[in-house]
Formats: sequence, structure tokens, C-alpha cells
Amino acid sequence: MQRSRIVGMGHYLPERVVPNAELCTWMETSDEWIHQRSGIRERRWVSGNVGASELAEPAARAALAEAGRTVADVDMILFATLSPDLNFPGSGCLLGARLGIPGVPAMDIRTQCTGFLYSLATADSMVRSGMARCVLVVGAEVHSSGLDLSTRGRDVSVLFGDGAGAAVVAATDGPAMLIDHELHADGRYAEILMVEAPASRLSPRLTPAMLEEGRHFPSMDGKAVFKHAVEKLPKLVHSILERNGFTLDDVALLVPHQANMRINELVARHLALPPERVMHNIHKYGNTTAASIPIALHEAVQEGRVRSGDLVLLAGLGAGLTWGASLVRW
Ligand code: UT7
Repeated sequence: MQRSRIVGMGHYLPERVVPNAELCTWMETSDEWIHQRSGIRERRWVSGNVGASELAEPAARAALAEAGRTVADVDMILFATLSPDLNFPGSGCLLGARLGIPGVPAMDIRTQCTGFLYSLATADSMVRSGMARCVLVVGAEVHSSGLDLSTRGRDVSVLFGDGAGAAVVAATDGPAMLIDHELHADGRYAEILMVEAPASRLSPRLTPAMLEEGRHFPSMDGKAVFKHAVEKLPKLVHSILERNGFTLDDVALLVPHQANMRINELVARHLALPPERVMHNIHKYGNTTAASIPIALHEAVQEGRVRSGDLVLLAGLGAGLTWGASLVRW
């Protein structure tokens, strides 16, 4: 059976930096509140009409360049996003067109903050089964154009940023880099973090009244999501390590989803992991959802925090609810 490795990564962030102070011009909030509650100092937002596939393209090209591959090598695209360019078709198809690779299969993965993890697991399975040999896995989000920038939406809007991260997952005859994945979902909690409209379950899907009420903006029960994350992530980390015969001492770096610095600090405390073994970059980018983990992982590699042979653990929880982890030998 073929196994798979991440042979290259890339990421891309829009140039426009939006510090917390700028948000105060639109809503009642403060740098102090945002930083204390979430760890965020600033985020990147696109300017003008930019969709997720446009952000994904430079990240994908950088990942291919780092891998020493070209677009001609890609035999599948997996595009993780909760902010697709269009309701349909998927952003994966649009990215394929941007890269100039007509005919290459492309699919969107809609599992929000764990989108990159679900995509990585899918890419790994495709390679192991022989369905693909070189999968381009992308997580990309444009949140900024979909946020309620009035005080009504401040609990959610201050958290999210735009960005893209990509990985090239390729077949290898050498030691496997992608060791294992553990994925979960529980739709009973779908409504604690969602965008309600437009939706197929509503007829009509969107009305002026719904727009007036802001039902097209994300809504979140932040405390509930926070509690799920702090409870579920440590259990998940123990589970994936145990079933692969590892302990926390074997893990060189935990790269968690970047939703809230306090969540990640509490998870690290539950696991007794020292700060130098946990990756954070939320202060610079906020929560970029499906892009968070690949951006953080790529920055960790670039900063020399991940070296050849290191065991790296990726983990996250988000809307769905979905939660998951991947164990990677670098
Ligand atoms: O990636 C997807 C997964 N998402 C998450 O993991 C997010 C998880 N949840 C969180 O990160 C936190 O719950 C938040 C950062 C969203 C909120 O922190 P919190 O400590 O749970 O605050 P809270 O919602 O209980 O709000 C406390 C107060 C409220 O005022 P009152 O009712 O105490 O008077 C809010 O109205 O803070 C107020 N508030 C704000 N104040 C200033 C809410 N948002 C803001 C804001 N600026 N942006």
C-alpha cells in the first residue's frame, strides 16, 4: 500500500492589516477586550471583491514550488472552506481553473475549522487507496465580507480573519509522514455556530426581513463552543496518541486550530505541554478557520520549530460541531 507525505506547504495572507483599534470605528469594542478574551491583536482582511479561490491560488502555487512540483503533477484538489466563492459550484473547481488544470477532480470539504484535517485525512486515504498520487490540499477563507460589523455582531466579528494555507500530499515509498487521523462530528450542536441564511431549509431562502435581522451573518454561542473545545481536544489528543503507541513526551509540537488563545492555553495546561511545544499565531491573523492549521504549521516549519523526524500533532474543533486530529512524522 502506498503511504503519503506532505512534500511542500505554502500560505498566503492578504496585505491589509486590521488592528483591533480599527474595529472600534465600527462597533463598541476595545483592543483590551479582544486581546484579553481571544489573544488577537490584528487580522488580515481582503480589499474589494476577492473570493476564497483567489486567496488559495498563491498559497497553492507556493506549496507546489516548495514541493518541487508543478500544477501538471496535481491529480486531485481538496478545498476546505466555509466561505466558498459561490454557493455552488465549489471553490475547488474555481481553483482548478485558476491553476489551469482542467479535468483534474476537485471537491470542497465543508467541515469548517477542521476542514484542513478532514482534507488531509481524505488526501491520505486517496493516496493509500491508489486513487491519487499528488493531492493539493487547501484551506482558504474570506470571512471579512460576511461579518456583521455593527455592535450586534461584535462577539463573532472581532475573531475572524482571511487567509489561505496549502499542502501537497504525495505518494511515497519511504517512511510515511501522515501516520493517522481521528475525526468526529456531532450535528446536535449545529446551531451553536452557524450562518442560518440563505438556506435550502428556508423558503424563501433569504428575505429582506432576514437581512434586517442579520440572519445571514454568523452567530455563535461562544461559551458553549469554548467548553466543547476545552473538553474534547485533550481527550482527542490522548486517544490518537494512545492508539498509535505514542505519549505526549513523543510530541515535538502541537499545532492547534487558532480559534482562541485561551482555549489553546487551557488545552496545553490539561495536557501539561510547555508553551514552547504549542504553536500560536492567532495574535497576528485571528481565526482563519480552515486556513488556520496549515498557516500555523507552515509558519512553524519556516521558524525552525518543526524539524525532520519530529512528531507533530494537528488538532482542532469548530462548527458542526466537528473536531479532529492528525499525527504527522515530519
Ligand atoms: O473557530 C470556531 C470555534 N470558535 C471558538 O472556538 C470560539 C469560542 N468562544 C470564544 O472564543 C469566547 O466565548 C468569545 C471570545 C467569543 C467570548 O468570550 P467570553 O469570555 O465567552 O465572553 P462573553 O460572550 O461571555 O461576553 C462577555 C461580555 C458580554 O457582555 P455582558 O453580557 O457581560 O454585559 C458581551 O456582550 O462581553 C461582551 N462582548 C464584547 N465586549 C466588547 C462580546 N463581544 C464583545 C466585544 N467587545 N467584541
